[in-house]
Amino acid sequence: MKVTNLDERIHVLDSESNAMTVVRNIAMSGLQEEAFYVLDVGDIVQKHQIWEKKLPRVKPYYAVKCNDNLIVIEVLAALGVGFDCASKNEINKVLSLGVDSSRIIFANPAKPASHIRHAAAMRVDTMTADNESELYKIKKLFPTAKVVLRIRCDAETAQCPLGMKFGCDPIHEAPNLLHLAYTLNLNVVGFSFHVGSGCQDPPIYYSAIHHCKILFDMATNLGFKPYLLDLGGGYPGDKDTSIDKIAEIINKALDEFFNTDAVHVIAEPGRFYVASAFTLATNIHSKRSVRGDENSSNTVTHNMYYINDGVYGSFNCLLYDHQHVTPIPLENGCGKMIPSSIWGPTCDGLDKVVENIMLHDMELGDWIIFENMGAYTLPVASSFNGFPIPKVHVVANENIWLSLKDVLPLTEDHFIIGNTPANLRLGLDIGGNDIDPWRNADPIMGLTSSEILTDTPNNPSHFIYDFIEPPLN
Ligand SMILES: Cc1ncc(COP(=O)(O)O)c(C=O)c1O
Repeated sequence: MKVTNLDERIHVLDSESNAMTVVRNIAMSGLQEEAFYVLDVGDIVQKHQIWEKKLPRVKPYYAVKCNDNLIVIEVLAALGVGFDCASKNEINKVLSLGVDSSRIIFANPAKPASHIRHAAAMRVDTMTADNESELYKIKKLFPTAKVVLRIRCDAETAQCPLGMKFGCDPIHEAPNLLHLAYTLNLNVVGFSFHVGSGCQDPPIYYSAIHHCKILFDMATNLGFKPYLLDLGGGYPGDKDTSIDKIAEIINKALDEFFNTDAVHVIAEPGRFYVASAFTLATNIHSKRSVRGDENSSNTVTHNMYYINDGVYGSFNCLLYDHQHVTPIPLENGCGKMIPSSIWGPTCDGLDKVVENIMLHDMELGDWIIFENMGAYTLPVASSFNGFPIPKVHVVANENIWLSLKDVLPLTEDHFIIGNTPANLRLGLDIGGNDIDPWRNADPIMGLTSSEILTDTPNNPSHFIYDFIEPPLN
């Protein structure tokens, strides 16, 4: 597959560099103003190795909805991962990379009719359902589909519970659905569940697998030949998390209830694969220092920083995915810590990224980094108020390049060797690199920049005058 968009290329880093040095290089280039991501392909590969080691019996089908970045999908396809698609477009995206339709599960229990027809046309034949009407719909539109019944089994605590929307009751509803499917002559091939995204209740996987075992037996007794057990999502993916506990419980339950190779076990991990691979760098473009308390009217009591990504962009994850984000100033500050808040760029008061945090004083042009920004961020982001969605710069080290460069759908063309400043500058948001004319941008209405800013409470650094606008074509 030929890559045409230079931004999408994977920059192969030398041994001195890593994702964080790239973040720093781009941020400090003096050419970058917009917020941007660095995606570390090695992080995804490492996650896959962890998955294979901890859950050797469970084949992952990556939940595309979590982050549909093309390189992410290509890398996962090259690693042999399957895909959980929720819609016709997601199916198309995966198929367009040459992935075989047998590696896709259409895991949306409530599918528009045209999407089912499309799945049938594309031979994506495995799909979930959790209600009578969906079974009738499948019977009508794709009668030979391989139906996976999704049951409900909710984690006591989860970042995003899903059971209120999907999954039939395993005891009261699932047996009736099985009977209906039998009457309709549908092919029920297995059972699935999703305990809730960001599951904090590992033992729930045991109960869910147990329910599935009971239903497998029931289905077999009815005359079906079930072979597919789908463990859904819910696995954590941030840098400081581990799937060890969940894996231990899953493996125990599989040994106890499905101790046979005849049952094919899959899962639909989303955030596990991508959360920690994406680091977001944001730039402070405005600052408001709130002054005055009962002792001194001139003391700064609170700093409000306005950065160039917010809840309508990447930080939609605060609202929809209930994430908590940790700001990391790129430069270690000094001096006393000041109560601070961080806001997005739009004019909406809701656009708040961090409520209340103690930070060293920062200036305009300073960068704030957010790690673990790969899950449920970019696919949901909008350019509300005209602020662009951050670009993604993709990096990998030499070992990753060597191991992936010839594994389809990846090819040599996907990579660009050498993290020279020129290479990394490909795809920076500011057009051109002739910043000199702006460095000493003196006369603005007869005043020098320093004169304009003298005596203002917060002198912005001269950094802001280094920015140039891209030429309008
Ligand atoms: C059907 C389905 N599978 C998998 C996932 C991925 O879940 P997670 O990111 O928690 O692994 C989701 C997330 O909403 C989902 O709806």
